[in-house]
Amino acid sequence: MNAHAHPPVALNAPNYVKNPKLIAWVGDMVALCKPAAIHWCDGSEEEYQHLCELLVKNGTFKKLNPKLRPNSFLACSDPSDVARVEDRTYICSKDKNQAGPTNNWVDPAEMRKTLHPLFDGCMAGRTMYVVPFSMGPLNSPISHIGIELSDSPYVAVNMRMMTRMGKPVYDVIGAEGEFVPCIHTVGAPLSNGAKDSTWPCNKTKYIVHYPETREIWSYGSGYGGNALLGKKCFALRIASTMGHDEGWLAEHMLILGVASPEGKKYHVAAAFPSACGKTNFAMLIPPKGFEGWTVTTIGDDIAWIKPGADGRLYAINPEAGYFGVAPGTNYETNPNCMKSLNENVIFTNVALTDEGDVWWEGMGPQPAHCIDWQGNEWTPAIAQSTGAKAAHPNARFTVPAVNNPAIDSAWDDPKGVAIDAFIFGGRRSTTVPLVTQARNWTEGVYMAATMGSETTAAATGAQGVVRRDPFAMLPFTGYNMSDYFQHWLDMGDKLAAAGSKLPQIFTTNWFRKGPDGKFVWPGYGENMRVLKWMIDRIEGRAKGVEHAFGISPSYGEINWNGLDFDQSKFDQVTNTDKDLLISELKLHSELFDQLSYHLPKALTQTKEKIEERLNA
Ligand code: GTP
Ligand code: SPV
Ligand code: MN
Repeated sequence: MNAHAHPPVALNAPNYVKNPKLIAWVGDMVALCKPAAIHWCDGSEEEYQHLCELLVKNGTFKKLNPKLRPNSFLACSDPSDVARVEDRTYICSKDKNQAGPTNNWVDPAEMRKTLHPLFDGCMAGRTMYVVPFSMGPLNSPISHIGIELSDSPYVAVNMRMMTRMGKPVYDVIGAEGEFVPCIHTVGAPLSNGAKDSTWPCNKTKYIVHYPETREIWSYGSGYGGNALLGKKCFALRIASTMGHDEGWLAEHMLILGVASPEGKKYHVAAAFPSACGKTNFAMLIPPKGFEGWTVTTIGDDIAWIKPGADGRLYAINPEAGYFGVAPGTNYETNPNCMKSLNENVIFTNVALTDEGDVWWEGMGPQPAHCIDWQGNEWTPAIAQSTGAKAAHPNARFTVPAVNNPAIDSAWDDPKGVAIDAFIFGGRRSTTVPLVTQARNWTEGVYMAATMGSETTAAATGAQGVVRRDPFAMLPFTGYNMSDYFQHWLDMGDKLAAAGSKLPQIFTTNWFRKGPDGKFVWPGYGENMRVLKWMIDRIEGRAKGVEHAFGISPSYGEINWNGLDFDQSKFDQVTNTDKDLLISELKLHSELFDQLSYHLPKALTQTKEKIEERLNA
């Protein structure tokens, strides 16, 4: 019998689901996707354990040695499905100009015509999981609800860690409440009796957003931001559109708290592009020379920021877990992260050791033997002769935020935390200095808008190429980028008009390289030295040195206690070469040409002022 000929599955909505719109939508999606069964997730521990057992039985999960890594699993994906697919990601607004030149756009009616046959019967032979989730603390005025329907149990268990997932969400939406409908399929229907793959997916992929109706449709991938739809699809692409309409911000930012020895606390939100150090910076441990300072994590990837009644900007982390880059993480560079990974972890695309534990490049001593992420034998000798990686460069861990020993006491506070500074930081081997402060809000928006960064394995495609990544939001702004710049300028104007003190804006670059091709700046915990200079600027304790682009520190203004970093090294990470800056400005011009529709005049005027200063 053909899978499509199965009788429709009964909805059996639990009695605590009281929202007729939601039930009708699930009914429609069941009729379209034709799953063999439906599972309404309640978010309980028993359910989590049951789904993990099912994933082990299917071969998607390997249970790690419970003595070494309690309650933890390893999943290895299909080699064709390892990162976000930016070229398959669409913003389908009615008007093409609303999506703007940085997004792939297709007319929504046409996209629905394309997707309908793909989704028809796409879940045959599989279970549809109904995953209710809150982005942000339940009942926070900054939070929003989503429901993801997915035929991937891997997605269901990851969503339980990454969001507040489960039954209480239905109480929040009640009978009338709003939710963002998110539908996800791996695009691999199973005909009767066919053996399933351990990582079902489809070589055709579509990650589609309809901003007007606030819907997300994802087809063909089971990996990360393509499939965990609360994350990039909802919390950035759809939420940035909501923020534009409603007067708030959805940003690709970590949020941290930093407290001085005197007990004064500051909150900083920092936007670095994918795999450029947000998780590391959010978990920073102050180095020698910073006794009495503490840094605590509110979030490591996404910030939702709304103006409060006092005119300040308040930020929450809409997520409840970290989906972080594994390679390069170790006890020296990020001890808090390593401690977060002791138990209750899902690892994806790292290597399996002979002891039943995990390993990745940059974790520490190489094992004599392991099984790489593609299931092949791996030894240091094989790696040397073939270059085979034990872990995929975009291998990730999923952990609950509460695993983090440096979690901030306010991380779950529905009010959020008041932001004192924004940082924007790209990955640049040359040209861009270690740190620069903007002289005012508009100059800060200019810096963020024109940020460049070398691309990383977090997205498929060419790696290490410098591209403009405005606000670290290039793949995530769900509407016209120029309108997004204007929104930032408007937010600044509004706050200033209300008489509030605006957050200071800085740009950083931890990634300058020396002639030997190595990073000159030691980075990681040592980034505290830069953070402290920012606080000194906020407090009016450091004067800084003005230059064409803004204000940077003099050597003497940085606390060097405990670090051997002389003036000549400092010059290597801060010097600005006039010719390089002139070519950099040409790239700003190219970006502005591309974004000319609705590009704020304030930005072209800022550029003119920079050019004048540079040529003075
Ligand atoms: P997404 O989760 O992809 O949004 O990225 P993220 O910004 O959270 O990335 P993460 O913090 O996991 O960055 C991982 C990469 O950045 C690894 O290659 C690290 O080695 C590198 N990295 C992080 N901090 C530093 C630093 O201070 N200096 C240098 N040189 N590399 C760093
Ligand atoms: C990123 O690429 O910025 C991530 C990982 O945080 S993913 O969720 O896969 O988009
Ligand atoms: Mn990210």
